[in-house]
Amino acid sequence: MKTMPNGDKTLSIRPAEERDADLLADLGTRTFSDAYSRTLSAEDLDDYLHKAFSRKQMLEDITDPDVLLFLGLISNTLCAYIKLQPTSVRECICGANQIELLRLYVLCGWRDRGIGTALMDVGLKAARDKAYKSCWLKVWDENTKAIDFYTNKGFAILGNEPYPVGSTSRNVVLMACPLEE
Ligand SMILES: CC(C)(COP(=O)(O)OP(=O)(O)OC[C@H]1O[C@@H](n2cnc3c(N)ncnc32)[C@H](O)[C@@H]1OP(=O)(O)O)[C@@H](O)C(=O)NCCC(=O)NCCS
Repeated sequence: MKTMPNGDKTLSIRPAEERDADLLADLGTRTFSDAYSRTLSAEDLDDYLHKAFSRKQMLEDITDPDVLLFLGLISNTLCAYIKLQPTSVRECICGANQIELLRLYVLCGWRDRGIGTALMDVGLKAARDKAYKSCWLKVWDENTKAIDFYTNKGFAILGNEPYPVGSTSRNVVLMACPLEE
């Protein structure tokens, strides 16, 4: 349990459980749409949302022991989540035992209150506890707020690559952060 920095509401963070699948699918859909609906065609967005945030996919993530998935709740209402998972490593990110930070999303009414930071702390601690040595991520190169956020948390830009979604391709930057204490 973590208290919000401004003290007015209580943020609790816990691992996702099977009973959260529907709520997580809904939160994933809402936060992803909010972030990318202006940059993807309606068809591409719809396609992606159906695949990435189906109940089946949520259950797979929740029950996969390799996936680190934590929820942020304010007064028992789900408002944020983080997902980390070992994935295929990129050449520009050196070293063994890497985990990818695949998703970190906070509902827009709850941003800039320390929730993203708190989830990141919990996610990276869980990764350290599993002996991962570094964490890497992809972030859309026009998402300057997220790039600044990650930079402030110790991530460095190490490369970039195209990221195809449906009929379009965008550029993502690759960032990484060592996990050693
Ligand atoms: C990027 C994102 C996850 C950050 O989450 P967040 O909850 O807004 O992050 P925080 O509140 O912890 O930190 C944001 C800033 O608010 C500041 N902050 C922290 N606590 C605060 C408080 N109580 N009051 C005001 N500001 C605060 C932090 O210092 C931080 O500033 P910094 O980045 O300059 O250090 C969130 O903006 C988001 O979901 N964005 C859309 C989705 C997205 O782009 N995800 C990344 C895709 S890869």
